[in-house]
Amino acid sequence: MVKIGDIELGEFPILLAPMEDVSDPPFRKICKRFGVDLMYTEFISSEGLIRDAVKSTKKLDIFNFERPIGVQIFGGNEDSMKRAVEIVSEVKPDIIDINFGCPVKKVTCKGAGAGILQDIPKMVKLTKSIVNSTSIPVTVKTRLGWDEKSMYIVEVAEKLQDVGIKAISIHGRTRKQMYKGCANWTLIEKTKENPRLNIPVFGNGDVFSAHDVKEKKDLSNVDGVMIGRGSIGNPWIFNEINSYIKNGILPPPPTIKERIDVVKEHLDLSIKWKGEKLGVLEMRRHYTNYFKGFKGIKNFRIKLVTSNNVDEISDTLQEIDDHFN
Ligand SMILES: Cc1cc2nc3c(=O)[nH]c(=O)nc-3n(C[C@H](O)[C@H](O)[C@H](O)COP(=O)(O)O)c2cc1C
Repeated sequence: MVKIGDIELGEFPILLAPMEDVSDPPFRKICKRFGVDLMYTEFISSEGLIRDAVKSTKKLDIFNFERPIGVQIFGGNEDSMKRAVEIVSEVKPDIIDINFGCPVKKVTCKGAGAGILQDIPKMVKLTKSIVNSTSIPVTVKTRLGWDEKSMYIVEVAEKLQDVGIKAISIHGRTRKQMYKGCANWTLIEKTKENPRLNIPVFGNGDVFSAHDVKEKKDLSNVDGVMIGRGSIGNPWIFNEINSYIKNGILPPPPTIKERIDVVKEHLDLSIKWKGEKLGVLEMRRHYTNYFKGFKGIKNFRIKLVTSNNVDEISDTLQEIDDHFN
């Protein structure tokens, strides 16, 4: 049984990766239904939380049916991060996750996200201070290192364990790689192999199917897998993985009707959640995958990703239904 603190996550948990503008409550609701074991919020700026910025505080909305749920925060300033932990604690998340992996320059240049990978002592000190400031289990999500010359993840994971984190998720790339090349699971495996490490290690990077999970599981002995892009427009991936890992059976892919129903629900939840303008806009990144592999979908997809109008989108979904059924 894999556990984060006292939270039991099953034999081989599958996690939804924190993803800005993606892993929001509407998407999380859908992923939960398809059997994800643990989810994280989008990353939340500690400075934004302290300033009471709407964008940051809205991301604190978590719901009981989502549990266990982790709230992810980022920042490079110790006092701000501790204050952010106090604010986050008020919504009683099951887990607080520290983002030490964001590669974006405006984050890293402040020593936050993956920026802190250039200063491991600071990373350890900041983590220790956060762990000591809360009774909520703290986890870390990070990358292999800053660049190919500093892939210290094996040592870093141990150091972070020693200051009290309860699990680590590792994206198998360096900050310098951003999203280029392939994720390197060898170093994730080495981290897991360290006999001194007893916290769960979750592997992350380039998992797009149940087969990928099985391959990574067999190769690297990780405690679970975290999925980001592979879930965008494809929440069925969690059901597929559960079925494949437990019974060796791959369920049939969702029909066009099932896809359309989930798209409608997702769109509806998004609009309720963020209002029509943003709800419609942020759905766009999901459509390609929702309808992946359907010959002749291109023109419909173009309509979906260029329309700003909910009625128009509903009409297009109906056209897709008529065309493929
Ligand atoms: C659109 C998008 C937004 C992301 N936002 C976050 C974030 O808020 N916090 C975080 O730790 N990682 C974030 N990531 C990184 C993912 O959590 C994950 O580590 C990365 O995509 C690699 O996993 P994958 O190959 O399964 O996508 C984001 C990735 C994407 C594609």
